[in-house]
Order: sequence, then C-alpha cells, then structure tokens
Amino acid sequence: MSFQPIVIMGVFAMDLAFRTPVMPAWGETLRGADFRMGPGGKGSNQAVAAARLGGDVYFISKVGNDNFGALARQTHRSEGVHADFLFESAGSSTGAALIVVDEARGENAIVVVPGAADELTLQEIDMAERQISSAACLMTQLELPLPLVEHGLKVAQRHGIPTILNPAPGCALPDSLLELCDYLTPNESEATALTGLPVQTWEQAEHAAEILLARGVRNVVVTLGDRGALVKNTQLTARVDAFNAGRVVETTGAGDALNGGFAVGLSEGMDVVSAVRFGCAAAGISVTRPGTAPSMPRRSEVDALLANGRCG
Ligand code: RIB
Repeated sequence: MSFQPIVIMGVFAMDLAFRTPVMPAWGETLRGADFRMGPGGKGSNQAVAAARLGGDVYFISKVGNDNFGALARQTHRSEGVHADFLFESAGSSTGAALIVVDEARGENAIVVVPGAADELTLQEIDMAERQISSAACLMTQLELPLPLVEHGLKVAQRHGIPTILNPAPGCALPDSLLELCDYLTPNESEATALTGLPVQTWEQAEHAAEILLARGVRNVVVTLGDRGALVKNTQLTARVDAFNAGRVVETTGAGDALNGGFAVGLSEGMDVVSAVRFGCAAAGISVTRPGTAPSMPRRSEVDALLANGRCG
C-alpha cells in the first residue's frame, strides 16, 4: 500500500526481557517470574512495525558477525525489511538490551548497548543516499551516535525528504539538530530531557511542543502513553486519543509501534494527525502482547481497530 520507501536508521539489539514483581537493588539477587529473548532495538523495531503495516522499508545499521547478528538478518528477511544497508562489523558484537518488565503493570526499564551499531560510518550512510533521496521519509532515533543521526538527517534534508527523529533515549539536543527535524516524536520523559521542563499533562506537553517549535522543529508529536499523543505545528494543535485494544501485557516497544505506524501513515499521504492516529492504533495493539518486534501488529489489525474499535 505504501508508495515510496521508508528509510529507517538505527540499532538492532537482542532483547533479554525479565519479568519481575520488583526491581532488584544493587548487590541483590531476585528470582524473576519469566524470561524471553527476541529481536529488538528501537530502529529495528520501528522497521519491523512499518513493514508489517505495509511500508517498503530499508534499514541502515551495523551488527556483529555473531548469533545475534544472524537473528537480525533472519528477522528482517522474514519481515520483508530490505537489508542492503545492514553492515557487519568484523570485531564488535551485535547490540543487546536488558529489559526489566514490571510483572503487574507491564512497565519497563531498559539498558541498551548498541555494540556494532556504534561503528556505523558516515560513508556507509552515504551508500544509502540513493534510497534516501527517493524515500517518503527518513526516520531515526538517538541509540546511534549523534554525529551519525545528524548526518542521516542532513542527507535526507539535502534531498528535500521529510525527516522524523524519535529522540529516544532522551537527552538534550542542540538547536542545530532540532532544525533538521520535520517531525520530532518525544515521549514525556524525552520531552523533559529536551526542554528541561516537566511534561506530564496535556498542557505541559503543549508548552514543551511550543518551545521545540521555536527551536526549529517543524512538527512536534509528544506521546503520552495510555492517554495518546499531542500534535503541534504552527497551524494546529490536536489531541489524539490512545486506543484500548485489550489488557496491557507489556509497554516495551509501544513507542516503536507508534513511530513505525506514523512513518507508514506519512508515506501513504496521510496528514500529520491521521498518521499519528494510525501510529496510536498500532501502539495500542502492541502493548497487549509481550516482546518488542514480535508484538508489532499487522495492517489488517490496525485497520480493524481504526474501523470498529476492535483489532480482530
Ligand atoms: O523501544 C524498545 C527498545 O529499546 C527495546 O527493543 C530495546 O532493545 C531498546 O533499544
């Protein structure tokens, strides 16, 4: 259904997810309730989400010559994500993430090590310039080193291709980088990291978005978990409600589902609010399942949720 390709630059990480009733303290050993291992990494999750939703996706990254790298390739092959720009490091390991999931609420805490992805080079990004120049959009996150993020956004901007920065994990960013963003999609804590202000309510999200617009971003989408997302640009302010698609099992990867869906929406010519609504529907389904990449919904499920409020 998607007309032009979507180029996503980011990290693949092997997710090691532990469910536990409480967080261990330093020096403490806890018996967990469950363990799962599976494909993750924000960029890769977004690529899988976008592909399952109908996008023609190219993923730019680097993995190691190891079992986790092989799983990255197998995942992308089976999901139909183009691996032309998935480079391989001779010496470094594929990224990995430790995910602690709160057994009762499904909330998470994550430590991610990008591994080989940290060795992606500017030249390797340039090798994808032809795909970027004909893409519907380029999307990236902050798991890659900042100079790579900046370079990717600049290549897209040079060709007039819309850029999406999902500023996760959150950190302060210079205006020079924000000016490269057509769309910036922080969650509450990332919006706080960017502005230094508390972002918990719709009003606070709107204030943070105003600040980010003044600093050079063209469109801000502040995601607010189970409440939905605020969309703001110089023409409009809109609240998009979250979707309730069932019991919340795990929220890890929900932001990636939203961003993947958002990119697909834009690639199909949806306006920014409709594209965010499409992304919110994808996120609403993903939280009803465990895991990150494996929890991403199919197009038919999102279409059904949007049409009748149910995904099956
Ligand atoms: O957004 C969720 C992702 O963050 C996980 O898959 C983990 O790998 C970390 O990168």
